[in-house]
Amino acid sequence: MAGAISLTQHILQGERQAPQETGEISGIMTQIALVGQTIARDLSQSGLIDLLGSTGQVNVQGEEVQKLDQKANESFVRAFESSEVVRTLISEEMEKPLHIVPAERTGKYALFFDPLDGSSNIDVNAPLGSIFSIHRVLPLTSGGKEPDFLKPGAEQVAAGYILFGPSTILVYTSGKGVHQFTLEPGSSEFLLSASDIQMPSRGKVYSVNEGNYRKWPTGMQKFIDYLKESDSATGRPYSTRYTGCLAADVHRILLKGGLYLYPGEIKEPEGKLRLMYEAAPLSFVVEQAGGLGSTGAERINAIQPKTPHQRVPLVIGSREDVEMVEKFMKE
Ligand code: AHG
Ligand code: MN
Ligand code: MN
Repeated sequence: MAGAISLTQHILQGERQAPQETGEISGIMTQIALVGQTIARDLSQSGLIDLLGSTGQVNVQGEEVQKLDQKANESFVRAFESSEVVRTLISEEMEKPLHIVPAERTGKYALFFDPLDGSSNIDVNAPLGSIFSIHRVLPLTSGGKEPDFLKPGAEQVAAGYILFGPSTILVYTSGKGVHQFTLEPGSSEFLLSASDIQMPSRGKVYSVNEGNYRKWPTGMQKFIDYLKESDSATGRPYSTRYTGCLAADVHRILLKGGLYLYPGEIKEPEGKLRLMYEAAPLSFVVEQAGGLGSTGAERINAIQPKTPHQRVPLVIGSREDVEMVEKFMKE
């Protein structure tokens, strides 16, 4: 893409328009983009260099850690371990928050991440993602007290995801629209490929693991039944699309409309997905594009978190589709 604008240029331009901000966020984004390139390279050669399969360990979520989950986590940690800007790292693959030693004095940000999202896709060459969320904190040496990084998603400074599909793309927002960048293989630069993405107010697709249908509350079952009925006036039945990678499924919804759901279950009302590094950042992106992120009862980004790894039910996508779920869940 000759003449296309790079991620770094784009962020710097945005910061020039808001001079109270410094180059700190652009520095963090540049590091995340480099991590994305490393993970993309690891994924592309995973079948050739013994990177497939499990490590044999189980993470704080009780889930089996794949070799690539661990490798992607290491790539994030390595990129930020000598940061003077990011004070604390919180990852799906690390039980405890990791404080960055140089940044304890100077670091004003906490970085949450899901290093590799959609791990069941690793061994089958299907899409994967990395999800990130940046919050403002105080340096530990100037009044910052752990866990001051547990803030509602509404206070995120920036968030987004990298999607490793046929091409590698990075989608992010810092509260001024949603922008997409595509990794140009030759130059190793992320170049702007879509700016100010706005999503349709309703869609034709729903994305959910329907194998769990019988575990859901009645309102959710009734909603999915409703989507399958035939009614041309309301565009039903909707189609199903589900990759098993949240970032990939939400990206489809972001561009084409519709909704992604990971409901709570009667026996496990919190659902599966994690608030701080899955639901909240994706909700920030989707809200910036005109959509909604909800638990089915309340706005995801209004939730005051209690723990770094807490789970939350997620209904995310086109505004009217999400509002319809909320209506069904109330009845
Ligand atoms: P992760 O690989 O980071 O643990 O996340 C997996 C998540 C998400 O990507 C996906 O939408 C969902 O789990 C799939 O879960 P099911 O296999 O239960 O459908
Ligand atoms: Mn995930
Ligand atoms: Mn993960």
